Amino acid sequence: MKFFIDTANLEQIKEAQDLGVLDGVTTNPSLMAKEGITGHQNILDHYVKICNIVDGDVSAEVISTDFEGMVEEGEALAKLHSQIVVKIPMILDGIKAIKYFSNKGIRTNCTLIFSVGQALIAAKAGATYVSPFIGRLDDISTDGLNLISEIANVYDNYAFNTQILAASIRHTMHVIDCAKIGADVMTGPLSSIKGLINHPLTDIGLEKFLKDYKKGN
Ligand code: E4P
Repeated sequence: MKFFIDTANLEQIKEAQDLGVLDGVTTNPSLMAKEGITGHQNILDHYVKICNIVDGDVSAEVISTDFEGMVEEGEALAKLHSQIVVKIPMILDGIKAIKYFSNKGIRTNCTLIFSVGQALIAAKAGATYVSPFIGRLDDISTDGLNLISEIANVYDNYAFNTQILAASIRHTMHVIDCAKIGADVMTGPLSSIKGLINHPLTDIGLEKFLKDYKKGN
């Protein structure tokens, strides 16, 4: 399972990278705004800064909603850095753009996926990743994890190469449950990754080991 961090915060990205288990970063316009990154050129510069910190894929989202605009923006984003994956919204022109980029060998992440049908057509168009938003489904009393299972089943039926990027992860149990189902990638806050480490019995056990070591020295 690949671990992506879902933030535009450079310190958190560095911390995750230093942990040694980071495979990539996802961003979106809201995450950029949260860090105070505004204006076209500043946003492009920020993507490059992120790419220079991490080794893996960095999703950079287009803000156009028409085919021509997405193509123009996506091509410029892809030229910024070899690690950039162009993030395209799940809309009709988005599907056309994904197909266009797929034919050109430019990698894409189809975002805002909330149904199996959307994941199916994105895979047909050649998306590298699809991003089902599980937390936002849970927020409206719908089973986000079930969507991951259903997409995994459909992709297995037809051996699609598109990777399932479980997005909108809110906590560590989401990460563990996605791993059990077989999501290819998770993207979430740093806390959801660091939460995998904690167990009170580990802390108690370590404390005792260290205490016993001191007895003999
Ligand atoms: C995915 O790429 C999105 O950036 C993200 O996971 C959305 O998560 P949210 O629902 O917590 O905003």
